[in-house]
Amino acid sequence: MTTASIAGRATAVAARATDLSKIYGQGETQVVALDRVSVEFRQAEFTAIMGPSGSGKSTLMHCVAGLDTFSSGSVRIGDTELGSLKDKQLTQLRRDKIGFIFQAFNLLPTLTALENITLPMDIAGRKPDKEWLDRVIGMVGLSDRLRHRPAQLSGGQQQRVAVARALASRPEIIFGDEPTGNLDSRSGAEVLGFLRNSVREMGQTVVMVTHDPVAASYADRVVFLADGRIVDEMFKPTADNVLDFMKQFDAKGRTS
Ligand SMILES: Nc1ncnc2c1ncn2[C@@H]1O[C@H](COP(=O)(O)OP(=O)(O)OP(=O)(O)O)[C@@H](O)[C@H]1O
Ligand SMILES: [Mg+2]
Repeated sequence: MTTASIAGRATAVAARATDLSKIYGQGETQVVALDRVSVEFRQAEFTAIMGPSGSGKSTLMHCVAGLDTFSSGSVRIGDTELGSLKDKQLTQLRRDKIGFIFQAFNLLPTLTALENITLPMDIAGRKPDKEWLDRVIGMVGLSDRLRHRPAQLSGGQQQRVAVARALASRPEIIFGDEPTGNLDSRSGAEVLGFLRNSVREMGQTVVMVTHDPVAASYADRVVFLADGRIVDEMFKPTADNVLDFMKQFDAKGRTS
């Protein structure tokens, strides 16, 4: 698919940050983690966020996902302005509209795989759509592991449970912070394949932080951060293009 057709098809914005700044600490220890970042994540688009360690990737994701407060600017998820929400409303929005996949899978050890997958919906008092749930479970290849507890699953299988949990409630947007960071390359490729399929086939919106050019190549677009600012973006990335960009960027960083 061409960049133009992606842009043409996916005009609706799933999440948007405008002039978003996040400052930690005060005085001499002050750190500007995000410096007036404006970015939008369109529906049914898979975006990777890349940049050097400390460039603000996790901070950006946490602020846009309503997991962290910000110093100035604004964030919208769909039509909802996060800054206008009270804590309870924010918790509800995260629960109802956002899926999370983190490096530490955050599975509950006493629950089975299936119970972990449906937990967010159970907490919200929502009934899973059976057909959808079956499709998600089939897609991540967990049909024969549903009664297993996390400790009885491999790392890759646990991460697939976490992916299924994020997809199960059909959230408006899924955020992943290095979701394949501690998987071997084969399990990582599987998880990335599921995320890509969920975007292509199910219209899911996914935003993923990654250090890995190969992981980034599964995305429709890469946004590059440096020193708390967006410095570039790339559409239809290949691992080689991303690697080249990062090398060039490292070289610039050293000479400046
Ligand atoms: N709780 C905090 N208190 C103070 N400074 C913080 C805090 N969290 C993050 N920072 C600083 O904000 C900046 C951005 O951090 P962030 O975690 O967003 O980086 P990152 O791009 O995700 O890095 P990495 O690739 O290492 O995960 C860093 O300079 C970091 O030291
Ligand atoms: Mg990080």
